[in-house]
Amino acid sequence: MLLHERGIHRNYGNNGGNLMSSLAQASDEGTQTTSEGKQGLLRLTDDEIFGNNFAFNLAGHETTANTVAAALVLLAAHPESQTWLAEELEEVQSNFAGLPDPLS
Ligand code: HEM
Repeated sequence: MLLHERGIHRNYGNNGGNLMSSLAQASDEGTQTTSEGKQGLLRLTDDEIFGNNFAFNLAGHETTANTVAAALVLLAAHPESQTWLAEELEEVQSNFAGLPDPLS
């Protein structure tokens, strides 16, 4: 995955717009300026990338799971909010009419 993201960055010069591509970009860039204004080779090592991925997984998993679980309980208890949410989602979805469905 890291090699894939790094390849995209090297070959196409862009960032895939996700956490992994940002880490790959940060591991690939050459000379950068430090917060003290010094020029130097500042890039993430592979170990730092794996460490950051571990932190993202740890920090992102239970928080997101608990938020979604609590939201579903509240939606189940408030059907009128479910209706409102469904309308909102349909409106947002209509903005993407004609584009491929990201969930399919
Ligand atoms: C609804 C879901 C989430 C909630 C409620 C939540 C909540 C929080 C809170 C309260 C903090 C502490 C902020 C502070 O005091 O400075 C935090 C930090 C952090 N969160 Fe989340 N988070 C969520 C999802 C995620 C996800 C999906 C990721 C990773 C992909 C993530 C990664 C992090 C990281 C890396 C930090 C530490 C940031 C730092 O100290 O520089 N979180 N989060």
